[in-house]
Amino acid sequence: MAATKKLQDLFLDTLKDVYFAEQKIVETLPKMEEAATSMQLKDAFTKHLAETKVHVERLEQVFEIIGEEPEAKTCDAILGITDEGAEIMEEYEGSPALDAGLLAAAQAVEHYEMSRYGTLRTWALELGLNDAAGLLQTTLDEEQATDLALTSIATSVVNQKAEG
Ligand SMILES: [Fe+2]
Ligand SMILES: [Fe+2]
Repeated sequence: MAATKKLQDLFLDTLKDVYFAEQKIVETLPKMEEAATSMQLKDAFTKHLAETKVHVERLEQVFEIIGEEPEAKTCDAILGITDEGAEIMEEYEGSPALDAGLLAAAQAVEHYEMSRYGTLRTWALELGLNDAAGLLQTTLDEEQATDLALTSIATSVVNQKAEG
């Protein structure tokens, strides 16, 4: 059975995984925004929430391109990463290190997404799905830009405060 599975199947499975992950992130970012104390960090989360909603739509477009109904498949990796974030929010509530912890959790999410989108983009090209590859690349660029923005917030304000 497994011997008949192809790159196409892997592409679809991974698409379902990241579709689940993006919806989980849409649910999680408002909580992180609420918990954050730095205005810069709050703004970054708000901005990325809007982008993430578009990521969900782009994935739906990719499902459409390959003639499949959008379907989410439980992604244990994102559940683990967001659980860790929830733990930080609870354990560091009121602490000057809270924002540093939120940043670290958010960057773990972005890195997970970057890894998934990089893979999906490459597989889409391999499968000759150029339009899908373009959509996936656009999202990948936004994840990378978010990661860089978070790094700059971390180094400019948040980590210094956490050390204080
Ligand atoms: Fe995303
Ligand atoms: Fe993201």
